[in-house]
Amino acid sequence: MNSHQIETVQHTFAQAAPMADEIATRFYQRLFELDPSLRRLFHGDMKQQGDKLMTVLAFAVAGLSKPETILGPVRRLGERHVQYGVQPHHYATVGEALLWTLAQLFGPAFTPEVEAAWAGAYGLLAGVMQEGEREATHA
Ligand code: HEM
Repeated sequence: MNSHQIETVQHTFAQAAPMADEIATRFYQRLFELDPSLRRLFHGDMKQQGDKLMTVLAFAVAGLSKPETILGPVRRLGERHVQYGVQPHHYATVGEALLWTLAQLFGPAFTPEVEAAWAGAYGLLAGVMQEGEREATHA
């Protein structure tokens, strides 16, 4: 990701913050439409789950400009996802649901450029999480 893309993601995330509840609700709806089998992996209250997701995304988005500060925690988040039953191919589905949700909420403001910046940010996070996952599996 270049610095302009990082700024784009940080700026659009700041605009999205007031819509956090709605983002979380629509995101999980879309995720379970794309892959209904994922439902059984989630046990808790979905409102709380949505809050956690948004908190971690906020942390990760803020950290894009200084990745060394987030690598450790994001790797450990990936390790924990192995325990949740998450498999590598699920990351693509989650990414698709996330980009779809942002596109819905931002409408025309979600230009191809903004979308590419978000796809880059998600890809980066998912990549680091999966490194953590591989370490957890092969340790
Ligand atoms: C950028 C990617 C992701 C982020 C930021 C993220 C964030 C989180 C957070 C913050 C939690 C709360 C628990 C914890 O901190 O360990 C969590 C739990 C969970 N996540 Fe993710 N996640 C991501 C990708 C995924 C993917 C690809 C899946 C696949 C379906 C997934 C499924 C789950 C499940 C099943 C739980 C536990 C739910 C439960 O125990 O009820 N996550 N995630």
